Order: sequence, then structure tokens, then C-alpha cells
Amino acid sequence: MKTLVEDIAETYTPHIIIVGGTSGIGLALALHHQMLGWQVSVVGSSAAKIADINSQHPAIVTYACDLTDSGQTQKLLDGLSGVSFQRLIYSAGSYTNERVHQLNQADSDQMLAINLQAFEQVFRWASSQLKQQYQELDLIGSERPSLICIASIAGTMDYPYASLYAKSKRAMIATASAYRAALIPYDIQVNCIASGYIDTQALCDLNDGDASHKPFIMSTKTAVHHIMQAIDDDVELAIFPRSMRYITSALNHLPKPVLNWILRSKLDKAR
Ligand SMILES: NC(=O)c1ccc[n+]([C@@H]2O[C@H](COP(=O)([O-])OP(=O)(O)OC[C@H]3O[C@@H](n4cnc5c(N)ncnc54)[C@H](OP(=O)(O)O)[C@@H]3O)[C@@H](O)[C@H]2O)c1
Repeated sequence: MKTLVEDIAETYTPHIIIVGGTSGIGLALALHHQMLGWQVSVVGSSAAKIADINSQHPAIVTYACDLTDSGQTQKLLDGLSGVSFQRLIYSAGSYTNERVHQLNQADSDQMLAINLQAFEQVFRWASSQLKQQYQELDLIGSERPSLICIASIAGTMDYPYASLYAKSKRAMIATASAYRAALIPYDIQVNCIASGYIDTQALCDLNDGDASHKPFIMSTKTAVHHIMQAIDDDVELAIFPRSMRYITSALNHLPKPVLNWILRSKLDKAR
């Protein structure tokens, strides 16, 4: 005969919130979790993308929110505070062709707001929600609670000439690492994903409709596989693909002036 806990575990549907889940890698992760039987909620700002998801994937719950507006973001988070969840992925991100075009004020404000400020706001809220759930022992039969953020391999290199994008992703990597240490006593898992190029629509749009020339570019399917593996294996900082990981690791071992010189001459021509 089954125990009560086993019965609850069997009927339990874990819930994931994906901030920045309305397109690209966030949406691919949303669909993957749905396939695995999760209840999925996504957040994004584009009304068109949300309408699309509502019609094509009606089981996914959508929330419209402009993350560059901290008041709007707080309102969304306050509204979600009564909702239990076991995993949150922060996949929202903003990137431009900083090396080709000068970063203007609007792009700079947007990048800082989405890649760094809203990320911190969301992680702060999500960690306190999960801690509260831990205290209320709302964990019977559920997944181990987890917080995941999608940074970039660009953030794994330390050099002064780095772009705002690379610097904000570097800050994200450091923040996730601090949260990981802080949440150990609560048995909450924190993983940071530092991937190379992923063939999403956003990357294509930035490259005149074709990003296939980007080094070691991977499909969203491959990226989802790597990310799920990193979550399953509880990897603190998952850097992939392997080829890019080796290259960045080798570059990080170079003397700083040499690294600066190489990246300065390379990055002036690429994203
Ligand atoms: N593609 C790559 O090569 C690559 C490589 C490494 C890391 N990454 C990182 O992966 C993440 C996803 O990138 P992607 O290529 O999948 O791009 P994407 O399709 O543009 O995804 C970005 C997500 O962020 C949301 N978002 C952007 N601005 C927002 C705002 N103001 N308010 C609310 N949501 C907002 C977008 O939703 P709305 O449009 O609905 O607002 C979308 O759901 C980013 O963090 C990116 O830095 C990408």
C-alpha cells in the first residue's frame, strides 16, 4: 500500500516560471519542460509573441511585463507571490551588435536593465519565495527547487575591453555563484548557463537573417540538451559547447596584455 507522501508525489505537477520565455532559448526550454509534464508559465513584453503562445500552446500561462520597468516587474512578482513553483529560469536578455554599432543611450539603458537589474530583482524575489516554500515544507514529492540563469560564454572572460553585454553577463555569473552559496542551507539549487552562440531568431535578426557564420553555433535543440544536462548534474557554471570552453579557458590563461590585444582586434569585427 502506498503512503500519503507517495500518493501526493504521483499526482504532483511541478511548476516552472521562465522569465524571458516567450521566444528563443527560453521558449524552447518552456516547451521542453511542458513535454516533461511540467506546468509552465512564461514572462515577456511582446504582445505579439504572447498572443502567439496563447493560441499555439494554450496550456502555457503567459504574463506580459516590461522588465526594463522595475515598478511593472515588482507588480508582476507581487502578483506571483501566492503561486508555488519549483524552478525559475531567467532567460531574458538584450544584446546588440555593440562592436559594429556604437552603443547608444537607449541600448545601454535596456541592456543594463534586462541583463543585470531585472535579473537581480527577479532572483532576489525568487530566492525568497523558494526559501519560504522550504520553511513551509511545501516540498513533498516535488523537484528539488532550482534557480537558473542564462548568462553567456562572453561573461567568462575577464578583460577591460569587454562589452557592456559581456560585463553584465559576467556580473550575472558572479551573482548566481553568490546565490548558490547562500542557498545551500535551504537545499535550493542554483545553476548558471554560459553558452556560446545559439541559432535563435534574435541572433539571426542581428546578423541580417543568417547567423550560420558564427563560430561553433548550435541549434536551440542542442542548447536545451546541454542546459537540461547541466541542471540534472547540478553544474554551478555550465560552459558549452566544449570547443568554445577550451578556447576561452586557454585565452584566460594568457597574460592580460596579450588577451586584450587579441580580443580588441577580433571583437571589433564580430558581435
Ligand atoms: N542566442 C545566442 O547566441 C545566445 C548566446 C549566449 C547567451 N544567450 C542569452 O540567452 C538569452 C536568450 O536569448 P535568445 O537568443 O533566445 O533571445 P530572444 O529570443 O530575444 O529571447 C529573449 C527573451 O527575453 C525577453 N525580453 C527581452 N526584453 C524584455 C523586456 N524588456 N521585458 C520582458 N522580457 C523581455 C524576450 O521577450 P519579449 O520579446 O516578449 O519581450 C524573450 O522572451 C539571453 O539572455 C541571451 O543573452 C544567447
